[in-house]
Amino acid sequence: MCGIIGYIGKKQAYPIIINGLKKMEYRGYDSYGICVLDGDSVFLKKRVGRISSENSESECKGCISIGHSRWATTGSVCEKNAHPQEYNQFYVVHNGIVENYKELKEELIKKGHQFSSDTDTEVIAHLISEEFKGNLEDATKKALKKIIGSYGIAVISPKDKGKIVVAKLSSPIILGITDDGYIVASDPSAIINYTKQIITLDDNEIATLKEDSYTISKDKKIETIDWESDAVDKGDFEHFMLKEIMEEPRVIENAIQGRLLESDVKLGGLESSKERLKRTNKIYLVGCGTGYYAAKVGEYLMEEIGIIDAEAHMGSEVRYRNVRLNPDQTAIFVSQSGETADNLACLKKMKEANVLTLGVTNVIGSTQTRETEGGVYTRCGPEIAVASTKAFIGQITVLVMISLFLGRQRNLEEKEAKKIILELKNISKKADIVLKQAEKIKEIARKYSQYKDFFFIGRKFNYPIAMEGALKLKEISYVHAEGVTGGELKHGPLALIDETCPTIAICTKDSVYDKMLSNIEEVKARNGKVIAIATEGDSKIKEIATDVIYIPETLECLTPLLSAIPLHLFAYYFALALEKDIDKPRNLAKSVTVE
Ligand code: AGP
Repeated sequence: MCGIIGYIGKKQAYPIIINGLKKMEYRGYDSYGICVLDGDSVFLKKRVGRISSENSESECKGCISIGHSRWATTGSVCEKNAHPQEYNQFYVVHNGIVENYKELKEELIKKGHQFSSDTDTEVIAHLISEEFKGNLEDATKKALKKIIGSYGIAVISPKDKGKIVVAKLSSPIILGITDDGYIVASDPSAIINYTKQIITLDDNEIATLKEDSYTISKDKKIETIDWESDAVDKGDFEHFMLKEIMEEPRVIENAIQGRLLESDVKLGGLESSKERLKRTNKIYLVGCGTGYYAAKVGEYLMEEIGIIDAEAHMGSEVRYRNVRLNPDQTAIFVSQSGETADNLACLKKMKEANVLTLGVTNVIGSTQTRETEGGVYTRCGPEIAVASTKAFIGQITVLVMISLFLGRQRNLEEKEAKKIILELKNISKKADIVLKQAEKIKEIARKYSQYKDFFFIGRKFNYPIAMEGALKLKEISYVHAEGVTGGELKHGPLALIDETCPTIAICTKDSVYDKMLSNIEEVKARNGKVIAIATEGDSKIKEIATDVIYIPETLECLTPLLSAIPLHLFAYYFALALEKDIDKPRNLAKSVTVE
């Protein structure tokens, strides 16, 4: 995933572009670049490294500019591969992938083109140059017809001054309308400081922006960004990740606001699908990474509360599997960004089989929300840290409500629904209680920060939480961590347990508590240290675990909303102790929009 941005208007463009790239640094942070036009003069700067090192003092004049923050896909991290990519005075910034760039490059080289980078994107600049007959948007349109893949692009050239041409296929493009011109970017975080009025481009749409007007291939409604500009600032926090973990109780409150009735839920995004949902006989839940772990919690929730057969799948797997699909099934896609390529490919496959497709999504106007037939927003506000935390809590909260919706269409008893809803109304206060243990969790994380291998174990609703905890730790600390079911330990993983390999055991008072206690005994008997996530008041666990982090008691089906929080904090403080780059871990991107 990369970040693209453009500005055209009455203001000097350079500071707007640099500040916008800083807001989007989480989308790609191995290199960056900017091109500014001022009449016939062109200013071009490309650097390897973090945009945060740049000051936004104008280095040049000009009111038309494009910029890019890169997460390398094709071509190594170096200055020549940074964007904008240029050929014959056509400058292009690109988020996406040109899958057929090798064939196109060979054809162009045969025509005498010389390439200066190893990127796929440079091909687009060459194609535009080939097609250019005086009009930039016509040339861009023709060039893109030859592209197989995905793109969000912005193009400028001194050969057709006074405009930016943008085009979208699979990778998001948002147009911000300001009093003095237009900003175009990959996501609202680069725009929110200048305007909340936005237009979201759909696939295969092209827009031409001029200083005081814009044209788009078809009429579009203007939307309003529904969060504040400080949502994309760290405030007093050292890292976005800690800020977002500390927001988790509020995320639960926002997700349930206006959606809970006494013994049912009101989910506007499902209204148009409710008759089909009543008939559906199977739920597929699809996600990647943390989205998959939330989907896995959803699988247990659907079985328990939704009273319906459910299967959670990784988007990267189920898109290639020969699953038996039919119109009496529903697929729920769980994604923070709504742009994860593997999920979107699977979504296309499910739609072709007439499966009802719904989304549990955080980013408003994202591709997933536009391609699914309905869904429920998680309302977490922007999540900037690459490691997903508050979005995970929002996803589970929404999946609880969708399960209630399905259960009440089936034979979930009214009193059971009332009990769950009542607890859901209170659980954010319990989440606040968990967060109050941050200092204790920080001490425990420091105490274990020299270990290089961890197991996370849980059962039933806490099995996906064990996997989520392991993912959080490994993706920001770069130590090996594995989430397994408690029951699987003795089938192999136990061979790895000794004094060098601690285990985090989620052992809350629930239907599998005794089994988890046995697992902790098994680990201790092999000199393994155990950090237990336990239910407040459980004194027994103190006798066997090495360290204990308590969470308030709640219903078993809602435990994930609390048991995930100490694991998010543990991973954060562990990475802090190792002085890792917590918000921007190496090799990763906030949203994986390529396959
Ligand atoms: C989670 O911390 C990771 N950053 C990653 O696994 C992420 O959850 C995954 O790429 C899915 O992203 P999405 O929710 O935007 O689809």
